[in-house]
Amino acid sequence: MILGINSQNHDASLALIEGNKILWAGHAERYSRIKNDTLLNPSMIEELCDYGVPTEIVWFEKPWPKNLRRLYSGQRPWIVNPKEELKTVGLDKIPLHFVKHHESHAAAGYFTSKFKDASILVVDAIGEWNTVTIWKAEGNKLTNVWSKNYPHSIGLFYTAFTQYLGLKPNEEEYILMGMAALGKPKLVDVFKEEFFEKFEGPDFKLKVNLHRGCKSWPRPKGVTDYDIAASVQALMEEYLLNTVAWMRRKLPSDNLVFMGGVALNCVANSKIAETKLYNNIWLMPNPGDAGSAIGAVAAYTKQHLDWGGPYLGTDIDRELDIEGIVRDLLAGKVVAVANGRAEFGPRALGNRSLLCDPRGPNAKDRMNSLKRREAFRPFAPAILAEHADTYFDMPVKESPYMQFVARCRTPDLLPGICHVDNTSRVQTVTKENNPKFRALLEAWYSASGCPILMNTSLNVKGEPLVNSWNDAQRWQELNGVKVY
Ligand SMILES: [Fe+2]
Repeated sequence: MILGINSQNHDASLALIEGNKILWAGHAERYSRIKNDTLLNPSMIEELCDYGVPTEIVWFEKPWPKNLRRLYSGQRPWIVNPKEELKTVGLDKIPLHFVKHHESHAAAGYFTSKFKDASILVVDAIGEWNTVTIWKAEGNKLTNVWSKNYPHSIGLFYTAFTQYLGLKPNEEEYILMGMAALGKPKLVDVFKEEFFEKFEGPDFKLKVNLHRGCKSWPRPKGVTDYDIAASVQALMEEYLLNTVAWMRRKLPSDNLVFMGGVALNCVANSKIAETKLYNNIWLMPNPGDAGSAIGAVAAYTKQHLDWGGPYLGTDIDRELDIEGIVRDLLAGKVVAVANGRAEFGPRALGNRSLLCDPRGPNAKDRMNSLKRREAFRPFAPAILAEHADTYFDMPVKESPYMQFVARCRTPDLLPGICHVDNTSRVQTVTKENNPKFRALLEAWYSASGCPILMNTSLNVKGEPLVNSWNDAQRWQELNGVKVY
């Protein structure tokens, strides 16, 4: 039984794996209730022990090269020290192995896919030194064929502008992505000129180290925050499309695996899918560093995992009152669901979700009265998979983990789930991906004639997802809304 660890990072996580089975995986923040918690905590270790006692541990990156890079980039005195942390949570007696940061990302993607061969793209802010890597996967072998190293990082470019716009770096990049649809990409050429010595794909070279941000960058006149966001997003998309085209020319596989924090960019993911350069695309639904708890073990064992979905965390083993939920939904209420195993990854996919009828002009306001988030951001639709093509122009056959956006064919009917550009981040639901949530959607469809529910995470802004039944009860008391 092997424990994968991602910690001393921006979103600590653990995954327990036996053979090819992922027994349990969780994010530290869901247990400590500290958003993006960087360290492991005793209550998650306690839950881990309910699933088994690890005999080996694999850490998701190599501490020494990372510490060296941190010293180089002036990030002292915070030094990565896995052994010290493992001592504090009582795991220090178990044999410990290390794998490389980007290798963890690549392995998390490839070994959870069904592919026997693949071309893998990993793009994040920084690993130890790597910022972009490209891999060739055949059978159980991963070969690194191309790399870019710090300080040249396209992910850091995106993060620097996230900070420039007053958002939290390494956390709120998704808000910049959402803002992009409201602006015009006027600055793409300006950015290339001012920030890049070379901009191709995959190769590029930054003129400046963006690790400390770009706060002093003088904004040209007449340019809004939304235009900046649109330009940053467009530049990232151009880079990714150039890179994927290069990979398709150089590497033989028909299968693409895309990983790293940048693979959370569902707008860019859709652009990649729309090129149809690859027959199949797989993004593990937790592609950032948190997913590397699984990736670390996969990089070490080099064997395919039996991927059954992201429902890998805390189990709330209760009956789901589908009749009661549908009754509340029909009465126009927002319904909270905390049932089954928690999602491992950033999206609530039916087990820790807030749901409501997506139809009509007030759906978004109803949800926002609980969520209190930016008014311009829409909520996502969960839809019975077989109806997806009727309502959305899908770039992929299935999107069970909300990793792609699709143009909505009926935006007037569903304004709450459509962004200003009429796109939606769709979750297609089948019996295989989530039988209880599927049963709920089916009951809702037969009662209402609508195969869609608005689905967003069961939390309030700035807090981690509800995890345990205790959290759910606390949420219910705070919000006065019944949790099913
Ligand atoms: Fe990473």
